[in-house]
Amino acid sequence: MSEHYSISRRQFVAGASSALVAGAGAAAAEKKAGGRTSGLAIEGGPKAVTKTPSGGPRWGEPELKQLEAMLRQGSLFYWEGPQTKLLIERFQQICPRKYVQTCSSGTAALHIAVAAAGIGPGDEVITSPVTDIGTVIGVLYQQAVPVFADLGAGTYNLDVADVERRITPKTKAIIAVHLTGNPCDLDALKALADRHKLILIEDCAQAWGAKYRGRPIGTVGHFACFSLQNS
Ligand SMILES: Cc1ncc(COP(=O)(O)O)c(C=O)c1O
Repeated sequence: MSEHYSISRRQFVAGASSALVAGAGAAAAEKKAGGRTSGLAIEGGPKAVTKTPSGGPRWGEPELKQLEAMLRQGSLFYWEGPQTKLLIERFQQICPRKYVQTCSSGTAALHIAVAAAGIGPGDEVITSPVTDIGTVIGVLYQQAVPVFADLGAGTYNLDVADVERRITPKTKAIIAVHLTGNPCDLDALKALADRHKLILIEDCAQAWGAKYRGRPIGTVGHFACFSLQNS
């Protein structure tokens, strides 16, 4: 959060929960007093979704056929297999980077990026405090120090001015997390990184397909890391 909104994460979570409760309470009070409501379920209207959604099948015949084709392949080196090549080809259609490498997870991708950036013991990497542990675990594995910057109010993405305040002679990189599909201010972060000769790593794990000023995320930083995790 920026200074103006400097509250702890715990306070934020508690505040957000009580705001939800307060919202429901206010609506109920308004209803009781005969005020106009929107008719939403939260304001006492009928439920829009009455049945619990069924999980539905997670795969069908096409996926089973592809899985079978993979299992019947002679080699376990799947990163050179036709499926991986196709994945890379299609990935490059949405994120046109020259060099694309698959690996086992978003966490592994971030670790590879941090290691490839030459980050080692005692180096500092500025990143977001609201993210998945996968963002920082590679930094720790390299015996470097994650430095958490404030986030922008309303975006929960890196506050560029605060990132700049936290740069020290030990800072080597910035990991910008595009939280919940919302791109960071990439132009400002790239300009800052260039000015201080820092590596900019984009953590795109939560933002497949998102665009920043018309450009696909993952195309501005020195590295971009994606995840195929379920959510
Ligand atoms: C922002 C962010 N970074 C990194 C990761 C790690 O990805 P993976 O679960 O594929 O290791 C996740 C996963 O949820 C994430 O949300």
